[in-house]
Amino acid sequence: MIKWPFLPKDAGLDIVKTEGAYLYTRQGQKILDAASGAIVNNIGYGREEVAEAIKEAALNNTYVLPPFLTPEREELLDELRNHWLPPHLTRVHLSSGGSEANESAVKLAIQYQASRGKPEKNLILTRTLSYHGTTLNMSGISGHAARKRGLESYVPAPITVETPYPLRCPLGSFHPEAKDYYLNNLKEVIERYGANHIAALLMEPINGSSGGAIYPPEGYWEEAQKILLDNDILLIADEVMTGFGRTGVDFSCNFYNLKPDILVAGKGMAGGYAAISGTYSTDEIAESILKAGFEVMFHTFAALPQSCAASSSVLKILRRENLCERVNPLGDQLKQKLISELGQHPLVAEIRGKGLLIGVEIVKEKEGLVSFDEKEKITNKIVGKGLENGVFFYPGGTGEYRDIICLGPAFIINDDDIDLMVSSLKKSLDHIKAKYL
Ligand SMILES: Cc1ncc(COP(=O)(O)O)c(C=O)c1O
Repeated sequence: MIKWPFLPKDAGLDIVKTEGAYLYTRQGQKILDAASGAIVNNIGYGREEVAEAIKEAALNNTYVLPPFLTPEREELLDELRNHWLPPHLTRVHLSSGGSEANESAVKLAIQYQASRGKPEKNLILTRTLSYHGTTLNMSGISGHAARKRGLESYVPAPITVETPYPLRCPLGSFHPEAKDYYLNNLKEVIERYGANHIAALLMEPINGSSGGAIYPPEGYWEEAQKILLDNDILLIADEVMTGFGRTGVDFSCNFYNLKPDILVAGKGMAGGYAAISGTYSTDEIAESILKAGFEVMFHTFAALPQSCAASSSVLKILRRENLCERVNPLGDQLKQKLISELGQHPLVAEIRGKGLLIGVEIVKEKEGLVSFDEKEKITNKIVGKGLENGVFFYPGGTGEYRDIICLGPAFIINDDDIDLMVSSLKKSLDHIKAKYL
């Protein structure tokens, strides 16, 4: 019997086909993918045009060393620079996934500081609730307890600032002084370690699945950016999950007028058609590192022509079909329906998110926001029940913060899909309520 080890035990599936926003199992079940895999797909599965672009690139330039230019790479650079990237982020470093791209971002930040004659400015701040990837370093510095269990003795300990979490702010839920509370924490951490020792803050402007689309109180990011600037600390925005239109804007930094020094994106960059991610930085950072003579090594499979072609094709489809313009209306519709059908459900603490990145936080008791015991594995049970009812939801949370259901479907869903997501989630929650409350 085949043992395929990387599937969550309660949600093992055998998928024989993906099409549009749907998965098809070997047993003949049709499942709506409310999570577009791991919040990856945006244009829908099975697009001939993208497959053709990949085929053409594979025939034309099967493998070319990453630092060399090819027409596929040039086309992607043009697409990114002319239509997607903030104008100040002119330098593109490609890799295969979000973890690699975040590693590159951290390396660039540290090399940049060293290139300016500040090698002691080498600490990376991260946030208490966050996910930046699965390499050893990213596992260590992410605020995701569950994904580093058994590794704690080896991976680097993170230096964290508190992730603004309005629902669970220590001052009280949605407390009017929450913004200042979290800004003070940022200032304190900088003071504790010394700005002259801190290279950068690595953060998700809106949390991905770690927090289930948590975003901070109004004004937080704008003021946090100022604090970082005043302290000569770089801002690295991890938009691996939120990038390329997922939250209703090109990058979620745009919500807050953030001007990151380095921006990281993956997932939606090729919608799952190829493994590609990008670390985007400024001329100043790149020139300083190059001038110092530091090497910026590539991964063997970085910028594969096939992956670049897939990405260009996906990004062009997003633009040609105005798919990003669908994200806000669809996201509002989905969120409103979730709120009207589930907002008063005894297990639902909050329904939040932007665009088509939505989190539903589940609690055992609303009063005091009491979570279910971790051993109950409520998230897995909800995801499992969802599958029985024809929908795949993405399990969010970090173990420590748990029972967060994420929705992040492709941008092509319709009214019926929205109804199905909401009714399936309601059935799952009613089941949990009947069995575990
Ligand atoms: C915000 C964020 N950063 C980084 C990663 C890691 O990306 P990958 O799994 O492609 O290495 C993820 C993956 O879920 C993510 O959501």
